Amino acid sequence: MTMSESLHTYLQSQRDKVEQALLSVYPQQWEIPSKLKEAMDYSLLAGGKRLRPIFVLASAEAVAGDEAASARAMPFAAAIEMIHTYSLIHDDLPAMDDDDYRRGRLTNHKAHGEAMAILAGDGLLTHAFHVASGAVRHGVPADRALSVVAELSRFAGLAGMVGGQVADMLGEQGVTTLDQLEFIHLHKTSDLIAFSLRAGGHAAEASDSQLDALELFGRNVGLAFQIQDDILDLTGDEAKLGKPVKSDERQQKVTYPYLIGLDASRERVAMLTREANDALGGAGLAMPDRLRQIADYLLSRDH
Ligand code: IPE
Ligand code: IPE
Ligand code: MG
Ligand code: MG
Ligand code: MG
Repeated sequence: MTMSESLHTYLQSQRDKVEQALLSVYPQQWEIPSKLKEAMDYSLLAGGKRLRPIFVLASAEAVAGDEAASARAMPFAAAIEMIHTYSLIHDDLPAMDDDDYRRGRLTNHKAHGEAMAILAGDGLLTHAFHVASGAVRHGVPADRALSVVAELSRFAGLAGMVGGQVADMLGEQGVTTLDQLEFIHLHKTSDLIAFSLRAGGHAAEASDSQLDALELFGRNVGLAFQIQDDILDLTGDEAKLGKPVKSDERQQKVTYPYLIGLDASRERVAMLTREANDALGGAGLAMPDRLRQIADYLLSRDH
C-alpha cells in the first residue's frame, strides 16, 4: 500500500466509526419530537468529511500511540461533529449566508422550514454537551472530561466560533482588513479544529505542552482549511463540494482571494500547513505522523 492509499483507508475507516457513533447519540428512553429528530438527522447524517471528529481520534492516537485512546475519545468526536453541523445549519439560513445546498442536498431550512432548522441547530448544540460528558463512561477521567466540556463551550462559543461568525457577519468589502479577516477565520473555523485536537489530547491524558502543540497545529490547519474553503468557493466544483460555489461573491463576503488573490491565498495555505506540521515537532508525541499526513492531504482537497 502506498502512503496515500493507507491514508485513504484510514480516513474511510475513521469516518465509518464516527458515523456509527452518530447513530446512537440520543438516549433511547428520551421522548424527542419526531420532527426535531428528523431535522437534526437530516443534516447530521448527510455525510460530510467528518474532518473534526477524525482529528479528535487522530490526536488521541498521536498522543497515546495506540487505538484504545481513540475509542475513549469518540464521545468528543461525536460532540464536535454535532456542534459543527449546527453551525452549518445556522450558517446557511437566509439571515446569514442564504444558501440552498449543503452536503449534497437541500439545506436544512429548505427541507424542513426555518423554524425547524433553527431548532435543529439548537438541539444539536445543546445535546453535544450531553454527549461529550458521556466520555466518562468510556474511560476518560472525570477531570479531563470536565476540561473538554469547558473547552467546548469556549472554542465553540462567544470568543470562539460564534464570535467568529459575528465578526464574519459584520465584515464588509472595502472596509475589513487582512488582520480582521484572519481574526474571523481563526475563530469561525480554526477554533473548532483546535478544540478537536485538544479534546483528543485530553482523552489520551496529554501533558499541557502536548496540548499546546496540538492546539497550535489545529489553529494553523484550521486557518489553512478556511482559506482553502474560500478558494474552493471560487474555483471548486459544486457537485464535488455538495454546496454552491460563488456564494461568497453573491454575499459580497470578504475572503482571502478577495483581499490577496488566488495565488497568494494558495501560498498561504501551503505555508500554514508547514507551520502546522512544525508545531508537532518536539512535543514528545508517540505517533505524530498521521496528523501530518492529514494536514498535507488537506492541501490538495477539492471538497
Ligand atoms: C464547512 O466545513 C464550513 C467551514 C468551516 C469551511 P467542512 O468543509 O468541514 O464541511 P463538511 O463537514 O465536510 O460538510
Ligand atoms: C462557515 O464559513 C463557518 C461556520 C459555519 C462556522 P463559510 O460560510 O465559508 O462556510 P461554507 O462555505 O458555507 O461551508
Ligand atoms: Mg458563513
Ligand atoms: Mg456559508
Ligand atoms: Mg465558505
